[in-house]
Amino acid sequence: MFPHTGTRTHAMFSYAQEGFIAATPAPLELAVVIPVLNEAGNIEPLLADIAEALSGIGWEVIFVDDGSTDGTLDCVERIARSDSRVRLIRRIGRRGLSSAVMEGFLATVAPVVAVIDGDRQHDEAALPRLYSAIADGGHELAIGTRYAPEGSTGDWEAARVALSRFSTLIAAPVMKTPLSDPMSGLFALRRDVAIEAAPRLSAVGYKLLLDITASLPRRLKVAEIPYQFRTRAAGRSKLDSAIILEYGELLLDKLIGRFIPAKLVMFGTVGALGLLVHMLVLATAIGPFALSFASGQTLAVCVAMTFNYALNNQFTYRDRRRTGWGWWRGLLGFAAACGLGAIANVGVGTMVFQEQEGWMLAGIAGAITGAVWNYVASQWLVWRQR
Ligand code: GDD
Ligand code: MN
Repeated sequence: MFPHTGTRTHAMFSYAQEGFIAATPAPLELAVVIPVLNEAGNIEPLLADIAEALSGIGWEVIFVDDGSTDGTLDCVERIARSDSRVRLIRRIGRRGLSSAVMEGFLATVAPVVAVIDGDRQHDEAALPRLYSAIADGGHELAIGTRYAPEGSTGDWEAARVALSRFSTLIAAPVMKTPLSDPMSGLFALRRDVAIEAAPRLSAVGYKLLLDITASLPRRLKVAEIPYQFRTRAAGRSKLDSAIILEYGELLLDKLIGRFIPAKLVMFGTVGALGLLVHMLVLATAIGPFALSFASGQTLAVCVAMTFNYALNNQFTYRDRRRTGWGWWRGLLGFAAACGLGAIANVGVGTMVFQEQEGWMLAGIAGAITGAVWNYVASQWLVWRQR
């Protein structure tokens, strides 16, 4: 029962008067967001390390999970039940490091927000330094950097270092704030800056720091704290080729996203590859296999459409990828969308042709209409954002 029930109204109710503030352990100064995907073995030791590193600072930790199946959730829930500084956000049917971290940032009221990986590869001793660079040093953003005299990429093999270096190099054109390590997954920023960036983010893939600095129109006041990247003790890295592709999507979106959606460009690229597949199947069917044109063309349409669907599901819409039975239902939806797209294609093509514009222009107009239709319809029918 609340002590203020009775004649008092809500407007008169004050937490301070009722003594609620005295019950609060310490003012909340820092929220540490930890994205996790199958990190069961790392949760407990990581939390112990963080609690030790942050003694003296009012902190909370927010785990953001995207469907771990290895007991990560049980582990977090068990700890969170007895320690209210530990919280959990469960996302369902979603995937993506950047958007996971952003959801964590938006779920706290702490004035400073930070992110650290859940696999103990980042050095938690950097956290209090990142925090104080913002709280005491007046910086808006503080990043952990591996590319400074006292920092290092640890035991990464040459290929991964080269990849990281190369991604840093090609990021230069979109960066509004120069950083030595824009690929870093360890950083802190003022919460209001995170909120300011939120509506402008591309939020695809792994590179939230780059996304934030590229999305804000001004140069931020930055502090750089060197740290050494550690070896993974448990679990596996989730970095794969699709994530490298998502990085390309992020850069593309930052460069041209204001004019054309990056997903449309990817959809178009897949479509162009699909055309190649179509011609190859057709040539093989009516050549070596001596099928009739109609049968060859039908086969080519089916193969190319499935190819397009599979590729778009794997890459263009990786963040809302369909799996299991959903994969097959999605294929049906995609076929329906493309069927209507073909009708739109022929319709517009014929219209332009009747205007005496010549078959080439008519053909191109039809194809573009069909492609844009397929993009819009399949995004709605198959890969709707949840
Ligand atoms: N919620 C959620 N959703 N978490 C994810 C996802 C996801 O889709 N993908 C990965 N994670 C979690 C992992 O469980 C781990 O805690 C953390 O994010 C980093 O993932 P890793 O798979 O270990 O990435 P990495 O070690 O190859 O790369 C990391 O370090 C680099 C250097 O700082 C990432 O932080 C990179 O962004 C960073 O560039
Ligand atoms: Mn890692």
